[in-house]
Amino acid sequence: MGDANAGAFCVLGLETSCDETSCAVLEGDGSCEPSALRLRSSVVASQVSLHRRFGGVVPEVASRRHVETIIPVIDQALRDAGLGLSDVTAVAATRGPGLVGAILVGLSAAKAVALARQVPFIGVNHIEAHMYANFIEHPDLRPPFVCLVVSGGHTDLVYLQDHGSYEVMGRTRDDAAGEAFDKVARVLGLGYPGGPAIDAAARSGDPNAVRFPRAFLEEGSYDFSFSGLKTAVVNHVRKVNTSLADIAASFQEAVVDVLVEKTIGAAHARGVGTVALAGGVAANSRLRERMSARASEAGLRLVSPSPVLCTDNAAMVACAGYFRLARGERSSLELPAVPDLGLES
Ligand code: KG4
Ligand code: ZN
Repeated sequence: MGDANAGAFCVLGLETSCDETSCAVLEGDGSCEPSALRLRSSVVASQVSLHRRFGGVVPEVASRRHVETIIPVIDQALRDAGLGLSDVTAVAATRGPGLVGAILVGLSAAKAVALARQVPFIGVNHIEAHMYANFIEHPDLRPPFVCLVVSGGHTDLVYLQDHGSYEVMGRTRDDAAGEAFDKVARVLGLGYPGGPAIDAAARSGDPNAVRFPRAFLEEGSYDFSFSGLKTAVVNHVRKVNTSLADIAASFQEAVVDVLVEKTIGAAHARGVGTVALAGGVAANSRLRERMSARASEAGLRLVSPSPVLCTDNAAMVACAGYFRLARGERSSLELPAVPDLGLES
């Protein structure tokens, strides 16, 4: 199928680094101009129900499901976009960080499409992709800005100086924010994944019911630590009878307090006028509400992706790939999957 409406640059993005098999089609004019971007389709096949009974993602099970789902998901994304494979001018896929067996499925599929169609291929860093989800919906967004990346595996405060130029100002020294949500939800019997469950339970709770510890660490540090908070919640639940909603709200408040203050502090330290949110935890309603209030108080602009673009998806991968392709970058078809890929590498 050919389509005269296909843009000059039509990127097929693939994301399979954890438990979502996802494909998206993003087009633009080939410049680093976000206002030219148009997301034509975004399909996410979630494996959540498959992993729920294990209380977390089982890597081998995830890889096998990606193998079964990847081709139908690509077909669906092309159908939703009203395009055929012949309209695709480049392919982008996550190359890390994540579960290596899972990454390899999307990465190999992307290389196969690029080889068959003789179009450029680009490997994408998953954390960079989370940050780039912001460019899809904010056509006037320009670097520099400070971005808080909060997901199941990462909690990073990143100074995005320019496209492709990052300084990780701080990171978690133990648990990632999403990991803390998931672990506390398990203790509270809220199931998996824990973040959305705590977000929902906290709505009817009092965020000031229990004063859980906030780890602000040393003066001037942008690092995070959530393991003490998690232990405090576990100890509280054992000893004191507090309602589930109050514990969820009080725990969430302690996480949000630290995330908000460090992000605003980092923005001031780098002298930027914009802060951005990214990653699954950025879908948290209380974080969005508190960050928005604090940013406007501090005279900063806050941008964040819609909740569906915060959690893992291929639209963000297509977007990060698009900007690299627009700058003339290409990856070799021999590019490996790197499970612990760093943002600055
Ligand atoms: O970005 P993501 O989909 O995958 C990773 O790259 O890790 O993030 C998943 C994490 C999980 O820990 C999940 O519990 C958390 O994001 N999450 C939330 C919310 N939605 C997802 N955490 C708090 N509130 C939410 N609404
Ligand atoms: Zn992610």
